[in-house]
Amino acid sequence: MKALVLSGGRGTRLRPFSYSMPKQLIPVANQPVLEHVLDNLRAIGVEEVGVIVGDWAPQIRSLLGDGGRYGMRITYIPQDEPRGLADCVAIARDFLGDDDFVMYLGDNMLLQGVREIAEAFRARRPAAQVLVHKVADPRAFGVAEVDAEGRVLAVEEKPQEPRSDLALIGVYFFTPAVHQAVAGIRPSARGELEITDAIAWLVEHGARVEATEYGGYWRDTGCVEDVLDCNRELLDSLTGRTDGMVDAASELVGEVVVEAGARVIRSRIEGPVVVGAGTVIEDSHVDPHTAIGRDCRISDATLGYSIALDGATVRQVRGIHGSLIGRAAVVSAAGEELGRHRVVVGDHTTVEVAA
Ligand code: TTP
Repeated sequence: MKALVLSGGRGTRLRPFSYSMPKQLIPVANQPVLEHVLDNLRAIGVEEVGVIVGDWAPQIRSLLGDGGRYGMRITYIPQDEPRGLADCVAIARDFLGDDDFVMYLGDNMLLQGVREIAEAFRARRPAAQVLVHKVADPRAFGVAEVDAEGRVLAVEEKPQEPRSDLALIGVYFFTPAVHQAVAGIRPSARGELEITDAIAWLVEHGARVEATEYGGYWRDTGCVEDVLDCNRELLDSLTGRTDGMVDAASELVGEVVVEAGARVIRSRIEGPVVVGAGTVIEDSHVDPHTAIGRDCRISDATLGYSIALDGATVRQVRGIHGSLIGRAAVVSAAGEELGRHRVVVGDHTTVEVAA
């Protein structure tokens, strides 16, 4: 079975990060989302991966290379515009050939993997096997109506009046039957070729489409809140280790990873926390569920439930919480004058300060 990993798209919900990097490379527990995706694919025995790339192709290529590092072979498939998930299947037609494949959205995190579902698909080979998850408000998703045996009766993209609370999540298994479906549909009102429409086409033409409810932890990391929540969940299974330096005046509590070349000086870190290689933390408190990238500088600061990307600086600031701090970004105290904030922030950036 091959895999098709979707790593194009606009990522508008993850601005300003998506102005300078693909959202699929946002680190969760210090590892880019795309690497978590490849881990799950390797675990189900996939060796051939097609990666759909848009404007950020160079950054994605420079991380994944030819896939050898992950024990896989990667073929890059450029998409000139985000024309929809089913368009990705269409442009990957040559790569996919007549093989079965799993289509995996490159921003989706399924922390317990997809092993059982892959086995069920291989054994039964329905035209499509989709994963669904119960959500509070299905109107923002593709929604499936499923019978007691797990057979899909209907699917609809972002329905105003959903027929169930089962949202399609970002992993789909297909036989080559999907290609005829993709060829048979037209772009939706929002101008995209929808995979939901291709699945509906299969259902309407009598093909067997099955749904499995995903029992594990799932998040689409398309917005900051979900990235942070996913980071929290992943860090909860962290096992601590110190490869860097922790001085005698510092205290590590719980599971804390201090990577090689990192230094912790006169600081208290309460895990689960990961501190990336080359980072220096001094005179600071780091609270649980924080992932600090490589070569960051945290000094005289308190920080918790946050992610700092590589090269970030947090200096003389207390109470940083629920924050995503970009590459080489600086968060620091202004001068002496109380109640004044100096901000130099880019487009679509959010800064929240005490009222
Ligand atoms: P989405 O999150 O639905 O779309 P997006 O990336 O444009 O994000 P936003 O809504 O914030 O603007 O895409 C899901 C995944 O599929 C994501 O990894 C991007 C990828 N994708 C493509 O590769 N090509 C496409 O044409 C589309 C629509 C998405």
